[in-house]
Amino acid sequence: MSEAFKSTSVEDATKKRLVPAVEFRNVHFAYEEKKVLYDISFKVARGEIKIVLSGSGGGKSTILKLILGLLKPDKGQIFIDGEEITEMDETDMQHVRDKIGMVFQEGALFDSLPVYDNVAYRLHEQGLPEDDVKREVRLLLRFVGLEKEMDKLPNELSGGMQKRVSIARALVGDPKIVLFDEPTASLDPPTAATICELVVKLRDLEDVSSILVTHEMDVVKYVTTAYAVVGEKGDVTVKEEGDRLCLTNTSILMLRDGRVIFDGTEEELVKAEDPYIQEFIRGTEVEAGNNEEGAA
Ligand SMILES: Nc1ncnc2c1ncn2[C@@H]1O[C@H](COP(=O)(O)OP(=O)(O)OP(=O)(O)O)[C@@H](O)[C@H]1O
Ligand SMILES: [Mg+2]
Repeated sequence: MSEAFKSTSVEDATKKRLVPAVEFRNVHFAYEEKKVLYDISFKVARGEIKIVLSGSGGGKSTILKLILGLLKPDKGQIFIDGEEITEMDETDMQHVRDKIGMVFQEGALFDSLPVYDNVAYRLHEQGLPEDDVKREVRLLLRFVGLEKEMDKLPNELSGGMQKRVSIARALVGDPKIVLFDEPTASLDPPTAATICELVVKLRDLEDVSSILVTHEMDVVKYVTTAYAVVGEKGDVTVKEEGDRLCLTNTSILMLRDGRVIFDGTEEELVKAEDPYIQEFIRGTEVEAGNNEEGAA
């Protein structure tokens, strides 16, 4: 490879990294008369996890649907990998969606299909040879730790396992952007931690940009303090820093009544003076409907 070529490609690669994976510019959205989002702007950098926090009905799932182009903003612009999708037609939008993996709030697995076919669904649709499908599905199920459950039906699995199947399915085709809508809702803390571990592994090992929607502070704590490392033998471990670790590739966006009230690091969030944020952090946030712990 010539020196000249090398420097150009390095420059290109650097430029590419500077383009956010997702960007909202002054986005407004209403469901008919019901205004849900007001002037939302934020960026998700490459390889970054953006945690989106709000109480129930705060507009989190709506933001994800706008990214997938399932809804269109009333005002403002949305960019995916630097490409504007605001006015994009369905054909072009389909190409953009191919770059995005989505883990829906309600798992959305096919009950009558075994785990293998659930994960393989898109690959079968694309008509890929079965040997290639098998290879990819095995790899994905190994990533989420469910290789042995391949032949089971979803209802033979626990809720946490079903969530992991949804994650494996969202990772088909190696998407560089993954959207998680409340992936830990109604899971017990250790199971929720295994899901968070997967999100961290995608960030640290696969350079995936993700948006993680949640209203659980335990999830925020985990994702902002844990990191994945590869050992000498290629083994992967996720380590948790007991105290606060300032991970530069994880940030938090907080919404209230459809407006951004915070965008920054976890360290900044805990220091924020806004009483609403402080209540939310302490778990006394009422709208979220999940405040069994942390209330003083
Ligand atoms: N299809 C729809 N038609 C009308 N209103 C809707 C529709 N979908 C959502 N809404 C309303 O828009 C607001 C935002 O909803 P959204 O689902 O984005 O909130 P959320 O933050 O994801 O909530 P949750 O934490 O409960 O999942 C809510 O008040 C909701 O009732
Ligand atoms: Mg939602």
